[in-house]
Formats: sequence, C-alpha cells, structure tokens
Amino acid sequence: MTPAISVRDLRKSYGDNDAVRGVSFEVGHGEVLALLGPNGAGKTTTVEILEGYRQRTSGHVEVLGVDPAKGGVALRERIGIVLQECGIDAYLTVREVVQMHSEYYRAPRDVDEVIALVGLDEKVTSRVKTLSGGQQRRLDVALGLIGDPELLFLDEPTTGFDPSARRQSWDIVSNLTALGKTVLLTTHYMDEAQMLADRVIVIARGAIVAEGTPEDIGGRDLDKTIVSFAAPADLLGVPLALTVADGHCRFETEDATRDLHRLTSWAVERGVLLDGLDVRKPSLEDVYLRLTADPTSEVTA
Ligand SMILES: Nc1ncnc2c1ncn2[C@@H]1O[C@H](COP(=O)(O)OP(=O)(O)OP(=O)(O)O)[C@@H](O)[C@H]1O
Ligand SMILES: [Mg+2]
Repeated sequence: MTPAISVRDLRKSYGDNDAVRGVSFEVGHGEVLALLGPNGAGKTTTVEILEGYRQRTSGHVEVLGVDPAKGGVALRERIGIVLQECGIDAYLTVREVVQMHSEYYRAPRDVDEVIALVGLDEKVTSRVKTLSGGQQRRLDVALGLIGDPELLFLDEPTTGFDPSARRQSWDIVSNLTALGKTVLLTTHYMDEAQMLADRVIVIARGAIVAEGTPEDIGGRDLDKTIVSFAAPADLLGVPLALTVADGHCRFETEDATRDLHRLTSWAVERGVLLDGLDVRKPSLEDVYLRLTADPTSEVTA
C-alpha cells in the first residue's frame, strides 16, 4: 500500500531564507506522526505545502496519492486542516461557522455533534469574537473535523488550551486513530507527542535531525539512568563516582539496580539519609533539547 503522505527532498526558500532544506519522510495510513522543532524550524512551511496552501521550491510530495499543489477540491474533501493561524469571521456564531464549513464537504459530520465533541456546546450561539483564545482554538479543531477527513493536519492544535481541554483533544485524536484516520501534527508539548504519536520527527533549521518512536528517538532507550540526591554532610567511603554540584550528588549508570543497591547499602550502613533521591531516564524533552541545541551557540560548562 502506498503511504498516506510521501515527501522526498522537499525544499522551500523565501527569498534567500532556505526554510526547508531537503526533507524526506513518509506517513503510513492510520499513523500519527508528530513534527517537533523550535520556532522557525520549518514545520508550518512543510505542513502547509502538504495541505496545498503553499508552493514548494522543489522536491516530490504526495498526499493520499496526489500532488497537493494540483489536488484541488477532490483532495480538500479528503483532508482536514487546523492551521496555526486561522482567519474566521469573528461576527459569525459558532454554529454558523461550523455549518458554513460543513457545506464544503460532500459527507460532513453532524454540526452539533462536532461542536459537542470539542466542548463548545454551551457556545453554539456565541459570536466567535466573544470566545476566549482556547475556545477559538477548539473551534479551529471543529473545522478540521467537520468534513470527516481521512487525513488530518494539526498545526499546534492545543496551544492555549487549559490542561483539561488538552486531554479532551488528545481523546479526540485517539478516537480518530481508532477509526483508522491518519494524523500529522506539530506541537511544542513533549507530553502531547509522547501521548499521541506513533512516530516523531525532530526538525531543526529546515532539516530532519532525528526520527523514531517517542520511546527510542535519539537513542533515548539506550541512554543511561540518572540518579541524584541531596548531598549528605559526609560522603566518606561512598562506593560510586559521584559529581557534587549545588548541594546535589549525581551519577549516571547503565545498571541502575546494581548501583542503587551499592548506594543504599552504603547509606543504611552509615545511617545517611538520601534526601530527594531521584532515579530517571532522560525525558523526551531532555533528548529534544539535546537534538535541537544550536551548534553555533556557546555552551559554558
Ligand atoms: N510567508 C513567509 N514568508 C517569508 N518567510 C517565511 C514565511 N513563512 C515562514 N517563513 C520563514 O520560514 C522559516 C520557517 O518558518 P515556519 O513558520 O515554517 O516555522 P515553524 O517551525 O512552524 O515555527 P513555529 O514553531 O514558530 O510555528 C522561518 O525562518 C520563517 O521566518
Ligand atoms: Mg509553525
């Protein structure tokens, strides 16, 4: 089966700004792919080229088997779009906006059902301009869903959402994938990528720097475990190589079970309390920050 999205050596320049510099990836049918990257990395540019909203400079792009630059209405019917910035008529009501968009599609979902799905049922007759930022974003998500798309593009869908609204929208995306829909999303929230994505692509300065599952990207699964605790008054005879800084002791280990046993045996024997003992693997955020660090910026230890 051909992939839902196929991108080969995609490039986009704005004047002399090479915003996307040769990006290649595929998204399988039913897959959720998250594009992560710092501001200006080229995520929106890439996504909007796939949506048919921007022209590419060069490269090969296929979305549901068609070139989005030539896909026209037939392709628009099959995809849902939540843009990073939406221009919605602020004087229309929530129901009017969703109703209007539903008419662009041959087989739209039920207007009130979609409004309820994004939690705006109490706002159906409110004008868009009276909605809060997060509520307007929910309306954007409703417009992405109204056409019952096979493929949904979500560009920072939950920016500005309160924590419970974010969880609700995660449920919406999970429900879509349970129905076999494909989702390409961008986000700055690592927990969102961790929660939703089957696969993550990290993009920095217009190029892909890593690709993998949220669990193994950037060698995360192979990373050492980090153990830390508040520095006790006396470290005499501690059987591990520790670094001590800012009142904290820390070490990295490939065998946490063995080394924690050594540490706690030593502590119990000497009656030392290991205050704030913390054992963790590098988080997706740790890995992301490492992958996207600007190589030209000075790092002072
Ligand atoms: N319409 C445009 N005209 C000129 N330059 C643009 C345009 N849109 C984006 N750019 C430039 O292209 C680069 C990539 O921008 P893009 O919006 O794709 O980044 P992004 O990864 O979506 O960032 P963010 O996380 O802030 O949304 C930036 O340097 C930006 O200034
Ligand atoms: Mg963007």
